[in-house]
Parts: sequence; structure tokens; C-alpha cells
Amino acid sequence: MGKPTVVVEADAEAVARAAAERLIARMTGRDRAAVCLTGGSGPQRLYRLLASEPYRGRVPWPRVHWFMGDERIVPEDDPRSNMGTARRLFLDACAAPGTVHAVPTDAADPDAAARRYQAALERFHGARRLEPGMPLFDFVLMGLGLDGHTASLFPGSPALDETTRWVVGVPQAGQEPFVPRVTLTLPALASTREMLFLVSDAAKRGILARVLAGEDLPAARAHADGDLVWLVTRDAHHA
Ligand code: 6PG
Repeated sequence: MGKPTVVVEADAEAVARAAAERLIARMTGRDRAAVCLTGGSGPQRLYRLLASEPYRGRVPWPRVHWFMGDERIVPEDDPRSNMGTARRLFLDACAAPGTVHAVPTDAADPDAAARRYQAALERFHGARRLEPGMPLFDFVLMGLGLDGHTASLFPGSPALDETTRWVVGVPQAGQEPFVPRVTLTLPALASTREMLFLVSDAAKRGILARVLAGEDLPAARAHADGDLVWLVTRDAHHA
């Protein structure tokens, strides 16, 4: 597992712009591209940017498919829904029909939702095994929680040790909102040409330093078959 590249930007706007550039670069030259989005407040500025020029005109919308790395089991019109938020901020206005792949939150329970989402990912990928030479995603966005969680992989969770399943149910969230969730697992998230963590909040300075020092926290366990990049603001970075 290679060391992550850390890119420090002046402020949250610069982080969002750099993230948009990286995302667009990964879409270039692909017949079909797959992006795994993230929830939380961190990526919202990026989502708004993607819906506005000059970025909007540069994303090859008909060729890009959008997935979500973790989801809260709430209806999409609930403000806590990760895909609902992404839809409101940019997908409803920009994504091509049939390219938004939401976690089925109408399933009977989080495990059933996880099984259905894994089946949808397998159909999209055209394979039931993840191979390093054939990544599931082109680009995976990640956030960092104050407790070191990422996606809905909380410290101490058995989901962190999953080696086979791509998606699992999380009956109990480790942080607000305390609703059941579904999360992609570390091996599924790792199956990408680029994984990009966004941290643009000075309150994350302490936890970011611990993660980058390699402490055993969920976000420090995240890895990628391709490039692993942390894009952070100066005030969130310890150096
Ligand atoms: C979620 C997220 C989660 C998030 C972090 C950071 O569904 O809650 O995917 O992993 O990225 O909690 O969230 P903030 O950006 O809001 O601090």
C-alpha cells in the first residue's frame, strides 16, 4: 500500500476547485466513468461547483455514472440523505438519465439494502470479483469524521475487517445522524483509479494529523489500488 499524497490548498474554495479538476481529469478519455460520491458537508462546495460553469460544461455527463459510498436509511427527500443532497446540489440539474445509482433505502433493513446495492454494483461492473487491473470506480470521494471514520466505517466496527462483501449494513451509526446506514467496504472503495479525501475544516486538524501519522483509525485504513490523495486546507493541516 503506497503512501498517500497530501496536497495543501489555501482554503475550502481552492480545495473544491482542485477536486473538480481532479475529477474531470479522471473522466477524460473514458468511454464510461464511475464516480463514488460521499456524504457530509465537506463535498458540498464541490457539488455546487460541478453544477456551475466552467466545470459543468467540462464534465462528460452522458458517460459518467454516480454512486454513493455510504448512505443513511432515510427517504431521498430527507435532508439527511446523502444521494438526496447530491441530487439537489448537482445531479438533478446535470446528470444524464439512468446514471444516478442510489442505495435502495426502501429495502426491509440495512443488510437487505446493502445486498441490493452490491448486486447493482456487480451488474454495472460486469464482474463479481474485484481485480486490481479492473477497478470498479474511476474516482472515489471520501470525507473524514472527527472520530476518524470515513464513509460509514466507524472506529471499532466489524465492517472495517470485511474482505469479501462490497457493501454492508451498519445498524448503528457511530456519529450523528444516528440512523441505520449502508456503507461500501474498504476493498470496494479501494477498487478505484483515484481515491480523494477532502478535508477543509480547521476543526479536523487534530484528527487529520493522527490519520496521516498512521494511527489505526478507519480513514487511515482506507487505501486505493490507484492513487490515494488527501486534499486539505492549510488550516486543517498540521505542518
Ligand atoms: C456520512 C459521510 C461521512 C462524512 C464524514 C465527514 O454519510 O456521514 O459519508 O463519512 O464524510 O462524517 O462529514 P463532514 O464533511 O460533514 O464533516
